[in-house]
Amino acid sequence: MTDSYIQNLFAERIGGRDYGKATVVYKFEKIKRARRAAMAANPGVELINVGVGEPDEMAFPEVVAKLHEEARKPENRSYADNGDGALKEAAGRYLERVYGVKGIDAETEVIHSIGSKSALSLLPGALINPGDYALMTIPGYPIFGTHTQYYGGRVHNLPLTETNGYLPDLESIPKEVLSKAKALVLNYPNNPTGASATPEFFAKVVAFARRHNLVVVHDAAYAALVYEGKPLSFLATPGAKEVGVELHSTSKTFNMTGWRCGFVAGNALLVKAYGDVKDNSDSGQFLAIQHAAAYCFDHPEITEKIAAKYSRRMGPLVETLRSAGFAARRPKGSFFCYVPAPKAAKLKGGRRVEFKNAEEVTEWLLMEKLISTVPWDEACASLRFSVTFAATDPEDEKRVMAELSRRLSEVEFEF
Ligand SMILES: Cc1ncc(COP(=O)(O)O)c(C=O)c1O
Repeated sequence: MTDSYIQNLFAERIGGRDYGKATVVYKFEKIKRARRAAMAANPGVELINVGVGEPDEMAFPEVVAKLHEEARKPENRSYADNGDGALKEAAGRYLERVYGVKGIDAETEVIHSIGSKSALSLLPGALINPGDYALMTIPGYPIFGTHTQYYGGRVHNLPLTETNGYLPDLESIPKEVLSKAKALVLNYPNNPTGASATPEFFAKVVAFARRHNLVVVHDAAYAALVYEGKPLSFLATPGAKEVGVELHSTSKTFNMTGWRCGFVAGNALLVKAYGDVKDNSDSGQFLAIQHAAAYCFDHPEITEKIAAKYSRRMGPLVETLRSAGFAARRPKGSFFCYVPAPKAAKLKGGRRVEFKNAEEVTEWLLMEKLISTVPWDEACASLRFSVTFAATDPEDEKRVMAELSRRLSEVEFEF
C-alpha cells in the first residue's frame, strides 16, 4: 500500500516521513505488554505492582465535596485563562506555611498549571532558541528536555548516581555547553531515585545559576511528601527568586493525578513569560478544579496523612528488599525506593539467568514472579519500587508485603 500524503507532512521532530514506522517499543509500553503476558500466563495469580508511579487512592472526600460545590457555581463555567485569585493566594499561603517561603506576591509570582507536566512542556517555549541547551538530570522526568528538542535546542544530561548522592555534579558541565545553556531542571525529592536535596545544595545551585546566567526550574512534584524533617522548597533558598521558578502540583501530594492542577511560582518575569506561552496554548484549568486545588493548598494536613501512610509502607518495603539482597535504603521523601539492579538471578532448583540491564530484570520479575517494577538504565542499572501498591488497609498492606517477601525469597540475586 502506498503512503498517504499525510505521511510526508510530519515534522522532523516526531520522525518526519518515518513517523509511526519505527518498530522500537519503549520502556513503559514493554512493561505494559509484559504485565499483560504475565497475567495471561498465570491466571488467578495476583500481580504485585510495586512499579506504580501514582497514588493508589482517590482525592480526600472533602476535596471532592469542594469540587462539587464549585462546579455548581455559574461564575466558574467560563474560560479560566490564567486563573483568578483563589489558587494564586492559596499557593502563596501554602509556600509560607509548609516551606517557610515568605513574601510571594500572589498576583505577579504565581500562575496555575494544568499539572507540572504541562508547565514543563510550556516553559521551554519561553526560553529555548535553536542551539540552546537544557541541563537535565538522568534518570528523570524528560518533558522539559523533549520540548527543548522540539524547539531546536539540545539536552545535556547530568547523571544521578550513588557516588554523587543523586545530586548533579554541576562542575562536570563542559564550558561550551554551559555557555549555551539556558536552563537547569531539577526535581527533589527525586523521581526515580527518591533522593532529597539539601539547603546547601540549593544554595550552590543559586550561586551557579547566577554565575552562568541560568534559569533554574525546580519540579517540586513530591516536595511535601517527606518522611523525615520538613519539606524543602527551592524558593526558600536566599536569591532563588532571582534565578528561577518552582513547580508544585496536587497530583502526588493530594492524590489528584487526574485532576490536572498545580502552580508555577517564583521569579515574576519567568512567571509572566510562562503565562504568555500558556495563554497561547490553553485556556486554563476549570475554575472549579482550581478552587478545589486552592482548598488543598490551604489544607496541607491532607498531604501529611498521605505521607504518613507511605512512611508506614516504606519501612516494610525496604526491609523486604534488604532481606532479598537488594541494597535498599529508606528515602527521606517521594514514594520511591530505588535500588541497584541485580546482575543475575537463580531460582530455587538451580536455573540461573544473567541480565544485561535493569529492563531485563523487570521483564524477568514480571514473567517469573508476577512482580512489576520500573527499570532505569540511564545512569546505572536500577529498579524503582513504589509504596503506592494497591492495598485496602494496613492489614492488607502486610499481606501484600508478606507475599512480595515470599516470592523474592524464592530467588537468589547476584549483584
Ligand atoms: C518528577 C515528576 N514531575 C512531574 C510529574 C507530572 O506531574 P503532574 O501530574 O502535575 O503533571 C511527574 C509524574 O509522574 C513526575 O514524576
